[in-house]
Amino acid sequence: MPTPAPDSSQTGDLSLDEYRSRATALVEWIATYLEHPERYPVLPPLEPGATLAALADEPPEEPEPLGVILDDFNRQIVPRLTHWNHPGFLAYFANTASVPGMLGEMLATALNTNAMLWRTGPAAAELEERTTDWMRQLIGLPPEWFGMITDLASTSTLYALAAARELDPALDVRRKGLSGRALPALRVYCSDQAHSSVHKAAMTLGIGLDNVVAVESDAEFRMRPEALERAIASDRAAGHRPIAVVGVLGTTSSTSVDPLAAIADIATREQIWFHVDAAYAGVAGAVPELRHHFAGMERADSVVINPHKWLFTPMDCSVFLVRRPEALRRAFSVIPAYLETAEQDTVTNYMDYGFQLGHRFRALKLWMVIRAFGARGIATRIRHHCALAAEFAGWVAAAPGWAVEAPHPFSVVCFRHVIEGDESRINEHNARILDLVNASGDVFLSHTVLRGRYVIRVAVGNLRTERSHLARAWELLRTASATS
Ligand SMILES: Cc1ncc(COP(=O)(O)O)c(C=O)c1O
Repeated sequence: MPTPAPDSSQTGDLSLDEYRSRATALVEWIATYLEHPERYPVLPPLEPGATLAALADEPPEEPEPLGVILDDFNRQIVPRLTHWNHPGFLAYFANTASVPGMLGEMLATALNTNAMLWRTGPAAAELEERTTDWMRQLIGLPPEWFGMITDLASTSTLYALAAARELDPALDVRRKGLSGRALPALRVYCSDQAHSSVHKAAMTLGIGLDNVVAVESDAEFRMRPEALERAIASDRAAGHRPIAVVGVLGTTSSTSVDPLAAIADIATREQIWFHVDAAYAGVAGAVPELRHHFAGMERADSVVINPHKWLFTPMDCSVFLVRRPEALRRAFSVIPAYLETAEQDTVTNYMDYGFQLGHRFRALKLWMVIRAFGARGIATRIRHHCALAAEFAGWVAAAPGWAVEAPHPFSVVCFRHVIEGDESRINEHNARILDLVNASGDVFLSHTVLRGRYVIRVAVGNLRTERSHLARAWELLRTASATS
């Protein structure tokens, strides 16, 4: 029996008339949502399983009206979300879905372009080349770097280490793999403050966690270059093979900056790949007075910057800049017959530079953000966020019993309230303060641990965060410190 065909008068999709009316209403919903971001608590009630319990166990057998689906979105989903666009979101690294970014994302979704090959999205591929080159210029890197956009910094850093593994043709990991061979241990270096994405990349690439060497950091949480030198020398003496060092511009915990120029000297001498993780703070390169932190980055082999962190671009968008794209191609390019094209030697086929074939059109939203803000507009906002953080740090430093626990070169402040007692008592006290503050729903802060000290972090990064939100956070912190 032939399968009955669906009614040929219908695609199964909703009508474009319905699209028009629903989309118009949704645009209004979004505008109202962003106009009154404090309508919802920034952190929802934390009830594990509550959303699951509210959702149907099974997929619907019959089509459901979009109005019903959207009602459920409003009732079941929105109130149980953590609102990253809330100006009281001061946790982790705060971010923003700006208007040009949202519109770019909307258009990219509607176009549904997959620029895996240049010919499957010629303008998308070339826009990505241009936009990533704008990012290069914004942070002052020299010309002739290759740029691509990935989903996350974790992917970009994994790509950097994959390229590093291919630098030495004798290893030929691409062809021979790592297993079943007598190879020296491949070693990757980063400071004890580096992000776990370095460790995850090493695990994924078969380098192994034990071969990520945690280089000691100094009192201001910056990698000690002499410790890096010592670690490499002792590894070479033990017969290991150093392949890469990751320097961080803006560490996750305290936003410290590793000494990039000194690391570049060592990487050059040792002939190992130098990757800079500037996932959060890379955008600060647009601010002339912050550029000094970047000295030495121009000698790196690769850099990652996440516009979805501090460049007002909606998730996800990670810019990966590479000085030696040929190593990336060696790591990843495989061209099956069905993907061969006449122009492949003269254009950028992004599938050649990563393990993924499909390539989302992320460049569109980034291009729209950079154009709509302009380099000066970007610098103004970044500067403002840094000034807000500096003012907050001033309040903390001036208050009896409170202490700023790390330098704050950008827009993040680490601090704690100090009471009588040992470190574990102080740590527990600060954890209780944080819980009380976050329960308010007005602000959301996060924590980290610096040299065994539990510290609270305030991270400014949302375009709508103003002094009043920091003042509210400070008021809540002081009240909580008195009661916890
Ligand atoms: C310094 C640093 N690098 C990398 C990452 C990972 O970023 P992503 O979530 O884009 O993979 C983070 C996340 O906060 C980070 O702070």
